[in-house]
Formats: sequence, C-alpha cells, structure tokens
Amino acid sequence: MPSTKSGTKAAPKSDASASCLRKWVTRAVIAFVVYVTCSFLDRIKDRWYVFTPEALHALAQDAVKAHPNDINAIIPHIVSNLSAEHPSSVIALNTNSSEWVLSNAGGAMGAMYIIHASITEYLIIFGTPLGTEGHTGMHTADDYFNILVGEQWAFSPPNLAMEVYRPGDVHHLPRGHVKQYKMHEGCFALEYARGWIPLMLPFGLADVFTSTLDYWSFYHTVRITARENIRNFLIGKI
Ligand SMILES: *[C@@H]1O[C@H](CO)[C@@H](O)[C@H](O)[C@H]1NC(C)=O
Ligand SMILES: *[C@@H]1O[C@H](CO)[C@@H](O)[C@H](O)[C@H]1NC(C)=O
Repeated sequence: MPSTKSGTKAAPKSDASASCLRKWVTRAVIAFVVYVTCSFLDRIKDRWYVFTPEALHALAQDAVKAHPNDINAIIPHIVSNLSAEHPSSVIALNTNSSEWVLSNAGGAMGAMYIIHASITEYLIIFGTPLGTEGHTGMHTADDYFNILVGEQWAFSPPNLAMEVYRPGDVHHLPRGHVKQYKMHEGCFALEYARGWIPLMLPFGLADVFTSTLDYWSFYHTVRITARENIRNFLIGKI
C-alpha cells in the first residue's frame, strides 16, 4: 500500500477539487432553478386574486358610514356583503364572526377574525379596544389596512411626521416596506393582504415560541388558517 506514495497523495487531491467543483455547480444550478421558479410564480400570482383593494376599500367606507364607531355592526355588514358578492363556488369565506384568535406579532398585540385565507390572499378583521404598537414586519405581500373604528398611526423615517389613518382611510404598505405603527387607543381594521401569504406566517406565529408560549391561540390560528386554505384549494382558489 505505501509503495505508490506520491500517486496516492496526488489522486485524492484532484478528486477532492473535482468533487468540490461538482458541489458548487450543483448548488449554482439549484439556486438558479429556485430563482427562475420563484420569479415565474411571482409573475403569475395575480391570476388567483379574487378581491380588489378598491372594492374592499369601498366596502369598508360603506360599512363605516352605515355604522360609525360600531365595530359590532360593521363586521356583519362587511361579511354579508362579501357573501352576497362572491359566490361560494369561487371563494370560501369564514362567516363565523365569533371565531377570534389572539395575535402577537412584531411587538403588537390584538385579536383577529379570519374572513378569508388562501395561499395568495387573506382578509381579516384585526384590532384591539386597548391600543397597541409595534413593527409592521417585512412581508412578501402587499398589505391594505382599512380602518373601521379608531385611528392607526404610522412612522416611516426619514419622514419624521406621524401618518394618521382614520375610519374610511386605507393604509397601503407595499411589500418589502416596513414601518412602526400604532393602533391608537381602540382600533379595528379590515386587513387585506395579497401576494405570497405562507411567507408571512413566520412573522405572525414566531412570538408564540419566543415570547408568549400561547399554544392555545397558536393551535386555533393554524387550525383555522389550514381549514380555510383547504376549503379554498378544493374549489380551485389558490
Ligand atoms: C357591497 O358593497 C359594495 C361597496 O360598497 C356595493 O357597491 C355593493 O352594492 C354591495 N353589495 C351588496 C350585495 O350589498
Ligand atoms: C363559531 O365559532 C365559535 C368560536 O370558535 C364556536 O364556538 C361556534 O361553535 C362556531 N359556530 C359555528 C356555527 O360553527
């Protein structure tokens, strides 16, 4: 065995560099395929959108006008309008407005009622009668925050002025943008997000593991989200 000392020494070296090269070529190919797949999916995501930010904004404004400062009347107004406007063969809606879960994300706390959840869109009522404040999170989806009662404040440096959103206003946070926000005193909003929703879930759920340990809310959030996603998936709404 030791007789071909120089030979055995040289062979593993070139073997090692060849396998190293192969490894990097493989990684580059995988990265390229992932990149092409993601940009393709990103280009076609629009075809699954059912809602439009404009129609939801008009609906939120109507609900606010019909029931000023009365969130308990605004929510049924919104849900019955959506049920009438969107046939159940096109989109699955969760009409049980007693189904609230607590939500902690980005330092802010409130509760949400999930009206609709699919892979490319979600629609929730989010808010708290107490007020809360935190980070919007950085998201892969566009976010439209339609204020129903109360005020939402936001701060986005280098603009040092406070942004104020009141009932009937919509606060649009384009994907990739971040702000500090506050649900001032009591505030509830109709929040519509469109884009790649599953990538937003870690933001919405991470606090359970790093802070609240509220596995009860976690369980119901996952259960309702999964149930609504499946209901939509089964009718071809992705
Ligand atoms: C739903 O609300 C929209 C916007 O306010 C309105 O134009 C539409 O007529 C309403 N639809 C129903 C069925 O109430
Ligand atoms: C609505 O949700 C509440 C809270 O989760 C639940 O107790 C109730 O049974 C649900 N109602 C229906 C009709 O599913």
